[in-house]
Parts: sequence; structure tokens; C-alpha cells
Amino acid sequence: MQPEPFRIKMIEEIRLTTKPERIRLMKQAGYNVFQLKIDDIYIDLLTDSGTSAMSDKQWAAMLTTKQAYAGSNSYYQLEKIIHEIFGFKFFVPVHQGRAGEHILFSTIVKPGQIVPNNSHFDTTQANVKFVGGTPMDFVVDEAYDPEKISLFKGNMDLEKLENFVRQNRNKIPLIMTTITNNTVGGQPVSLENIKKTSQIAKKYNIPFFIDACRFAENAYFIKINEKGCKDKSIREIIKEVFSYADGCTFSGKKDALTNIGGMVATNKREIFEKIRDMLVITEGYPTYGGLACRELAAMAVGLQESTTESYLQYRHEQVEYLWKKLHKAGIPTVNPVGGHAVFIDGKKFFDHIPQTQYPSQTLAVELYIEAGIRGVELGTSCFGETDKKTGRMILPKLDLLRLTIPRRVYTNNHLDYVADSIIKIYKRREKIKGLNRVYAPPLLGHFLAKFERI
Ligand SMILES: Cc1ncc(COP(=O)(O)O)c(C=O)c1O
Repeated sequence: MQPEPFRIKMIEEIRLTTKPERIRLMKQAGYNVFQLKIDDIYIDLLTDSGTSAMSDKQWAAMLTTKQAYAGSNSYYQLEKIIHEIFGFKFFVPVHQGRAGEHILFSTIVKPGQIVPNNSHFDTTQANVKFVGGTPMDFVVDEAYDPEKISLFKGNMDLEKLENFVRQNRNKIPLIMTTITNNTVGGQPVSLENIKKTSQIAKKYNIPFFIDACRFAENAYFIKINEKGCKDKSIREIIKEVFSYADGCTFSGKKDALTNIGGMVATNKREIFEKIRDMLVITEGYPTYGGLACRELAAMAVGLQESTTESYLQYRHEQVEYLWKKLHKAGIPTVNPVGGHAVFIDGKKFFDHIPQTQYPSQTLAVELYIEAGIRGVELGTSCFGETDKKTGRMILPKLDLLRLTIPRRVYTNNHLDYVADSIIKIYKRREKIKGLNRVYAPPLLGHFLAKFERI
């Protein structure tokens, strides 16, 4: 196992509350972990987004940045590294991934159009809908078989995609692929699959964009698991991945190892000019894009650090460490391990709780009460929709609890505690009842939803 390729220079204290406190806090939060305060959480596995520990080099770069409305030095540092790593001609910085999605979709998606993706993430899905489009997922069927061990379960189903594109060519403004595929468990997408998706897009003359949030983690999976790739360097793999695309959206809060930031990049001048105009209206001038210039510097350095093999090996092995512990103990995990998180199949974990009673949300609530650990539901609360005609809930195929590992933040001792706590809950699972949702706003409802215990 690759030990941490860094030493710890600064620490942050965490506090374990008592169980009666947590019961009260959870009730007060409407049984929604998004409503908890960080000071009341012992181990926070809500997200890997914006939660990375930054390096001394990132902090140093932030301090030496010259803040400027136009022409900051950090913009040019970032431009250089984006060009080097991704190879795109044009880019705009944005304050986070969803701002990039909004800018891109509001310039190229028209009402009534359809956006195919392997799997949309919740913000991507919401941003397509927000401009009147319809997001559609074409991930391979095996992605919906959580326990099956198979490589590249995040792949696009190429046959389904092409059949659909052939019949709906005029309604498709762009095709996307999300790497890694967060919605189905952080599963990777193969180089071959990205290449073939790009060929379909080219054949029908449709722009092909990558949701690149976890591009470095995806490249590591390609290196270790894809035929013919083990001797390629991480940077070579990344270059090849993006050589197949016309552009990407990116949240720097993941694989740029920063707490905020993102970008949209493209080779297509006409798209770039439109997104740049929209950027100026919604985010800011193109050399800062809604960020303090120091954040651009942190992204520039973070991108270099996240694309080294020793870092990626450590990162992958730490996530795998938690997965192995849970898998060995018989917990129904999504298999194999994803890139940034361990996912638990809530429907299997609580096979007595119907999906309409939010099994994975129930597990999130129990985990907090048991041990002060915050995970997040990616399932019925997050992706479930209400049928406009019948008013009934359309249930998503997967109902998962995601234990997301922040980058360079926790040690394996923390992860042992997480595994032991989940195993404890599993042993008493039959006594646990589900939840009723009593409130949810229409878009991204899970952030603000309220529940009651049954
Ligand atoms: C696959 C994917 N796309 C887009 C986003 C949105 O990024 P942000 O949170 O920076 O807006 C996320 C965030 O988690 C994500 O995982």
C-alpha cells in the first residue's frame, strides 16, 4: 500500500458529541444531514467537493498572487497548466462546476432539446432542465447491478446512445460523458469508451463535452485496469482522454484539490465566445471568473499535484481500504470500489424498508446518530421525481449511501472507525424503520428536504 506522499503540517480538532445530543440535533435538522453544522460532526464524508486539504505550495501560491480585476498572474498560470494537461485552446474560469454547466447549457441548449450523458450528476441534470432541456442517461446496464464486480461500470452504452442519436439527431445540442461516473458509484469510464462516444458524436456532427470533475482519478483507473495503458503516464492518458472531446466542464473542488473553483474549456471558438459573453454577465471578467485570483493560483498548483502517480495511487488505495473492510464484513457495497467514495446499497442494507421510505437516507441518519459520521444519500431523495400527471414518485433504480473521502484529510484510523460504526448498524438493521419525506423543493430538493421518522 502506498503511504501518504506527504507529512501533516497543520491539524484541525474534531469533537465527538454524545448520542443523546446527536438524536436531538438530527431531529432538529429534519433528518437531513445537509442541515447539520460541521462543529457537530466527527467525521464528515458528505462530499469530496471543496473539502481537500491544500498543500503548502498551494497556500504559498495563493499568497503570491496579485489580485486584479483583469490580467492577474494566476490566470496565466492556470491557463498554462490547463493547456498542458487538458490541451484545450480556450477556457474560462468559473466559481464552481455548476456555474460552468449553467453557462454552457444556457448558451447551447434550447428548450425541448435533449442532452445524452452516461449519467448526469444532480447539478448537471438540474441545469439542463433549468434551460428547458431534457437530460437522458445512457450508462451501461451493469451499472445498475451494484454488487457486480466489473471494470469500467461508468461507461456509456454505445449501442443505445447511437440508436437514440440516429433517431433524434436534430434535438441533441451536445453529448456528454461524466468521468468518473459519480451517480452510479464513482465508477470509471474507459479510454476506449470515451473514444467511441466521441466517434458517435463526430459522425452526427454533435459537440462532445466531458464532465471532468474527477478526470485524474479516472485516468488512474485507466492506467491500472485498461488493456494497453499500464505503461502510459497519467498525463499521457489525460491528454488522450481530452483529445477526443470538444470541451469540458470542470469543478476544481475535486481533482484540482481546491476549496472552490472550476472552469469550462473548449476547442470550438464559437462556443467559447458565447460562454465568455455569458460568463461576463453571470460570473465576472474572463481572467477571474467569479473567483478571487488567489483561488486560480490554488487550482493551478492543485492540478499539478493531482496528476502525479504517487498521489493518485495513495488516493485510490485509501478509498479501496474502506471499501475492502466493508465488503469483507458482508455490507452490500457498490462493487468494485469507485474513485472518490464507497457507496452502500441502501435497498439491500435495509431490505425490509421500501424504497418509498428512503432506505439510504435512513442509513445516513442512523450513521450520524450512531457515530457522528456524515454520509450522503444519492438515491430516492436526490434523484426521485414526482410524476406530473399522477403525483406519484418515480423511483430511481439505485438508492445509495455515499461515504465520500475528502482528499488528503483523514487517516486510515478514521476510516476504521467509520467501517466499525457501519458494521454495528448492520448488526441491528432489522430494528430500524424508514422515513417519510414531508417537504422538498422542486429542483435539487434533497438539499433542503425535511423528513420524519416512521
Ligand atoms: C460529476 C459532477 N458534476 C458536476 C458537479 C458540480 O460541481 P460543483 O459542486 O463544483 O458545482 C459535481 C459535484 O459534486 C459532480 O460530482
